[in-house]
Amino acid sequence: MRYAEITGWGKCMPPATLTNDDLSTIMDTSDEWIFSRTGMKERRISHVNADELAYVAAARAIAAAGLEVNDIDGILFGSMTPTTLMPNCSSYVQKRLGNKVAACMDLNSACCSFLYAISTATSLIQAGVMNKVVVIGAEKLSWFLDWTNRNVSVLFGDGAGAVVLEATSEPVGVLSSKLGCYGDMRDTLATDNFGSGANRGLDSYAHISWEFDGQEIFKRATRGMVLATQGALADANVDVEEVDWVIPHQANRRIIEAVAKRMNIDMDRVAITVDRYANTSAATIPVTLTEILEQKRIQPYDKIVMPAFGAGLTWGAAYLRWGARVEPIAEAAVELPPCDKTALELIEPLLEINRRHKVVVSA
Ligand code: UT7
Repeated sequence: MRYAEITGWGKCMPPATLTNDDLSTIMDTSDEWIFSRTGMKERRISHVNADELAYVAAARAIAAAGLEVNDIDGILFGSMTPTTLMPNCSSYVQKRLGNKVAACMDLNSACCSFLYAISTATSLIQAGVMNKVVVIGAEKLSWFLDWTNRNVSVLFGDGAGAVVLEATSEPVGVLSSKLGCYGDMRDTLATDNFGSGANRGLDSYAHISWEFDGQEIFKRATRGMVLATQGALADANVDVEEVDWVIPHQANRRIIEAVAKRMNIDMDRVAITVDRYANTSAATIPVTLTEILEQKRIQPYDKIVMPAFGAGLTWGAAYLRWGARVEPIAEAAVELPPCDKTALELIEPLLEINRRHKVVVSA
């Protein structure tokens, strides 16, 4: 029987940090509101595109696995903010890595993209189609946001995380997945005028606006993540008490706490990064996984569950068993180009476009 062990991991968080207090200088919000409702303190704003963040995270994951770039025969890029739709962004990562042999696929299930991608990659390895696959979650949500909309813009950030999966005969890696979607709820979290349904007579970027029903999403997200976690654990014949780590999608600390409470899981077994990075959509799980590995909190053969939800409303969970190695084999000498702007300076031109568009629409 073939399995798909996680042998490498890496993240790439852009350096510019936007705090809640920074946000309160450009909109009617406060650190108190944001922190008490979400657990967020700050988020990162990227000066490069999502595909470049992805490349750096992927290079770091490949080094941690101790592999050469041409050992990789598959690259899966999970994102809802791809830099380009054609060509896809996984081909950008391949080119930047100098890889000549990988199949390249982009996948969009919104915040569940990494979860869907790691389940897909595991299945491709188990089917014998691929042997060594890089799975990435990367987003540049700052580009995508309406910075005049406080309901949405305070919730998100930029970043990327990646893992390497390798075929093995040992029963480790993702052992079960439950994936689903509440399509009837797709309008509760949506942007218009972006994609081939957009009105090409308009400047599509200026006209992106968000439909967002936070409370409805909150309820369905909690239910979907609990059901998916229970399903994935049941399929793997694992009791919830045996779980060493929950690495959930980081949309809101209160959603994570509600899921943990319903599952009867102590918060000290739940990994949290939402305080420092906010919601980076597809990147939250690989970034959080990498961070707790860097903190040496994962032990060999730990039992881990990763629940998520996102626009669609997609939901899911994967249960995985860690392998023997919890230390990286090597580090990649790869860095982002330096950033000479503050986070507020990076979003200023975007905010200007949003403001100008608001004036045009209301005129
Ligand atoms: O990963 C997928 C994407 N993430 C999500 O979909 C997030 C899911 N939803 C949530 O996390 C929560 O529902 C929110 C954090 C979005 C909102 O928390 P809440 O406790 O459900 O807040 P609420 O809806 O009860 O509060 C809304 C109030 C409104 O004021 P009124 O109408 O009650 O006077 C908003 O205008 O809070 C106001 N508000 C803000 N005030 C200050 C909304 N955003 C802000 C803000 N600063 N940034």
